[in-house]
Amino acid sequence: LVSCHIAAELVYKYGNLSEGVCKPGYAAAKMTAIYPKFMKPAPMFLDRNFKRLAKVRNYLPPFGFKTQERIIDSILTATKNYGLGEVLDSLGCKRCIIVGNGGILANKSLGSRIDDYDIVVRLNEAPVTGFGKDVGTKTTMRITYPEGAIQKPERYEKDSLFVFSAFKPLDFKWLRQMVFKEKLRGTEGFWKSVAHYVPREPTEMRILNPYFIQEAAFQFIGLPLNNGLMGKGNIPTLGTVAITMALHTCDEVVVAGFGYDMNMPHAPLHYYETVKMSAIKESWTHNISKEKEFLRKLVKANIITDLTNGI
Ligand SMILES: *[C@@H]1O[C@H](CO)[C@@H](O)[C@H](O)[C@H]1NC(C)=O
Ligand SMILES: *[C@@H]1O[C@H](CO)[C@@H](O)[C@H](O)[C@H]1NC(C)=O
Ligand SMILES: *[C@@H]1O[C@H](CO)[C@@H](O)[C@H](O)[C@H]1NC(C)=O
Repeated sequence: LVSCHIAAELVYKYGNLSEGVCKPGYAAAKMTAIYPKFMKPAPMFLDRNFKRLAKVRNYLPPFGFKTQERIIDSILTATKNYGLGEVLDSLGCKRCIIVGNGGILANKSLGSRIDDYDIVVRLNEAPVTGFGKDVGTKTTMRITYPEGAIQKPERYEKDSLFVFSAFKPLDFKWLRQMVFKEKLRGTEGFWKSVAHYVPREPTEMRILNPYFIQEAAFQFIGLPLNNGLMGKGNIPTLGTVAITMALHTCDEVVVAGFGYDMNMPHAPLHYYETVKMSAIKESWTHNISKEKEFLRKLVKANIITDLTNGI
């Protein structure tokens, strides 16, 4: 009943959508209509009170931070900042875009539209330099895990937040070494080479709330709980984690560069390299088809807008 009421109210308020006007509370209200348990309050980044976050404190990474409390405490003491910054935190209505890395972004000249959003979220090592016309030049934050982080220090853009998303306990150890600019040791547990140095000040670094991984996996996509432990096919991709974060943080959520067309095996997988779609491997950790079902549901219900129509 509550969700029906909210939906009716939205039709009344937003029945006549006008382009470009930010609609406060739009994404969360629409989301609640479909997922009644969706609750907007969830801090984007961990702050000094993180141990009070009931939903994540009893789960191990990636679904929570159990066993990593001490290391997180020391990292947060150094980063000293836990928000988006004064200007963005005080915006009454936030329009956000999550830019995926898909080849579908190439040659569509969406750059200036992407740069128009209040918050531009990019993922892992997807470059901006040289691709501005198609992907824009603004980066509010770049969400990354150790294996996905930009490795060449000169390729980091200025003025963006380095947002860390942990998938395994080892990842926090890596982050501590990056924050404190220590010599990297203990890299055996990574599945590919990782950055040795992140040229950002601790105050420009954040830890993404692991709740978004947990919620995406178990409440939205419906991946196997596996006693709350990482297991076969129960880890959401970073793109879906970023969308889940945005649904909590932003009033409007738009995406671009998401989705693969498996009927086009020769199309490029990413907009910035020539690797083809056919190179995609069966993943042990993700369940791409189940995830796609979830993202389709969001697009169909107009909860998110997909600028490149790949979902
Ligand atoms: C929708 O907005 C336009 C432009 O402001 C206005 O002319 C029109 O009457 C509105 N329609 C409804 C149904 O409110
Ligand atoms: C984009 O355009 C360039 C130049 O016309 C072309 O070489 C390239 O193959 C195009 N990429 C895609 C993904 O269509
Ligand atoms: C993905 O989910 C479907 C449906 O639950 C299941 O049949 C399939 O085995 C899963 N794939 C992986 C890689 O876990």
